[in-house]
Amino acid sequence: MSKKKIILDLDTGIDDSLALAYVIANPDADLVGVTSEYGNVHVELAAENSLKILELLHHPEIPVFIGESHASTKDSFEVLPTSQRIHGINGIGNIQLPTPKRQPEKTSAADFMVEAAHQYGKDLIIVPTGPMTNLALALEKEPHLPDLIGGVTFMGGALTVPGNITPVAEANINQDPEAANKVFHSRLPLTMIGLDVTHRAVLTKDDTAIWRMIGTPAATNFADMLDYYIDIYLANQAYVGGCALHDPLAAAVAIDPSFVTTIDLDLKVDLDEPYRARTIGDEMRIHNKPHTKVAVNLDVPYFIGIFMKYLGKLFQNTKEN
Ligand code: RIB
Ligand code: CA
Repeated sequence: MSKKKIILDLDTGIDDSLALAYVIANPDADLVGVTSEYGNVHVELAAENSLKILELLHHPEIPVFIGESHASTKDSFEVLPTSQRIHGINGIGNIQLPTPKRQPEKTSAADFMVEAAHQYGKDLIIVPTGPMTNLALALEKEPHLPDLIGGVTFMGGALTVPGNITPVAEANINQDPEAANKVFHSRLPLTMIGLDVTHRAVLTKDDTAIWRMIGTPAATNFADMLDYYIDIYLANQAYVGGCALHDPLAAAVAIDPSFVTTIDLDLKVDLDEPYRARTIGDEMRIHNKPHTKVAVNLDVPYFIGIFMKYLGKLFQNTKEN
């Protein structure tokens, strides 16, 4: 079986950084590029954080691209106070990493997605873990994207549970509901990894203690970053029982769909109040053959077991410089 080619589209944040580590660690995947989104931080800081994490993990060869700086319907973007609280002022739990040795690539995120689609075809899976602005733009630039690539597995939305930014909306979809709605109405083969499953994928300080014992800079920095994130979750959403592994779960399912159970259901995003940014089944397409899978259940021990195994190995292997 050929390895899956992955593009991570990140608003690099703490759980986005974990998604990056997970794909690098997974022997069944090739991370062909990291595209950057605004969201948890401004887009330039998202790119800088990705470059820093890639150096920490000894993978400075993976290219990083800058994406759109704001939602498709707006002309600017400000980081929400909630995001600053959850991810820290610098987006990575306020850990201090060296200034990256390189710059992002000159090609834009959307152009890179289109180029990669032509280069890798059905082997390519795009994994957005922030707003869908870059992907919606790539679709505009290349309307054949749905026929070219293997699929899109995204972190966002909530079908069977409440939202986390409004009672009905999940944070990533809420950043650019119009872009997400365009993606939902394209023919892209989609898999939604929403709060329905990501709130069940939980990491605790017992897990970060294992990383601390590994003792490499990568292990220690990730443990510090995650302990920050866990403390915020325990203060704000104690019912989760630790921190939610939103973005790494989407990355994991992109590589191995068997972690989750899905239902086939084409979705829409509500664009008007009072339900703006809600993800829900599209009543106008219930007679069509769905192109969207929505994850509704997760094999928790299987996922956490594999996640800890791969990250532990990766952190061990960053011992030598
Ligand atoms: O709602 C959770 C999502 O919002 C995650 O992708 C997190 O990183 C933030 O972007
Ligand atoms: Ca994210």
